Amino acid sequence: MKIIVTDTYEEMGSVAAQVVEAQMEAKPDSILGLATGTTPISLYDTLTEDCKAGKISFADITTYNLDEYRGLPGTHDQSYRYFMDKYLFDRVDIDKSRTHLLDGTNPDADAECAAYEKELADAGYVDLQLLGLGHNGHIGFNEPADHFPVDTHLVDLTESTITANARLFDSVEDVPTQAYTMGIGTCMKARKILLVANGANKARIVRDSFQGPVVPQVPASILQLHADVTVVVDKEAGSLLDL
Ligand code: F6R
Repeated sequence: MKIIVTDTYEEMGSVAAQVVEAQMEAKPDSILGLATGTTPISLYDTLTEDCKAGKISFADITTYNLDEYRGLPGTHDQSYRYFMDKYLFDRVDIDKSRTHLLDGTNPDADAECAAYEKELADAGYVDLQLLGLGHNGHIGFNEPADHFPVDTHLVDLTESTITANARLFDSVEDVPTQAYTMGIGTCMKARKILLVANGANKARIVRDSFQGPVVPQVPASILQLHADVTVVVDKEAGSLLDL
């Protein structure tokens, strides 16, 4: 595991963008696994600028997002489809028919999750998976548990995740309580993994995830077992690391 600590949040985004762009240059038809949340916004801003400057192209790129709230249509401004369109897809030269997210409006959880996992398997899984890190160590919406969930599945969000996400909704009652998410096994099948985190309130979980024991109570700790992981954190999030 390679851990890079940057001075600022913006630098975290540009260093992480270099990892994504190196993948896109090496394989212009790469399959990218993408994440939402506030952390990757500076990374998406850099990718957008570099695409507009003609340094990279998404023309042949395919994407699969990690997760989506159950019950929210893509038109809802807190859905992850809306987020991805706003922060990346509508700003770059990507073919939107090659951008894939779980359908939060499909009430048949088993069918939706099985179809997404099969699509990923048929595609050979992703070349590079981008991840953020929840305060409780979740990746995607794989919450702390007594086992590592393997495949794409329906989750009940924990109170701490609902509370953390409430800042983006009018009230905590509006935050969906369930989501569809790739499993930990799905994420671990990526050929490369890039995780970004920033801010002092992620310092403890960054240390526990990457320098603590590998346990399902800290889902991101499993990344220590993947052969090709780059972690890019700003200095606040990296402040408790023993480097
Ligand atoms: C989002 C996702 C989540 C976030 C995590 C951190 O697609 O999968 O695991 O990466 O909740 O969110 P932020 O970046 O908002 O702190």
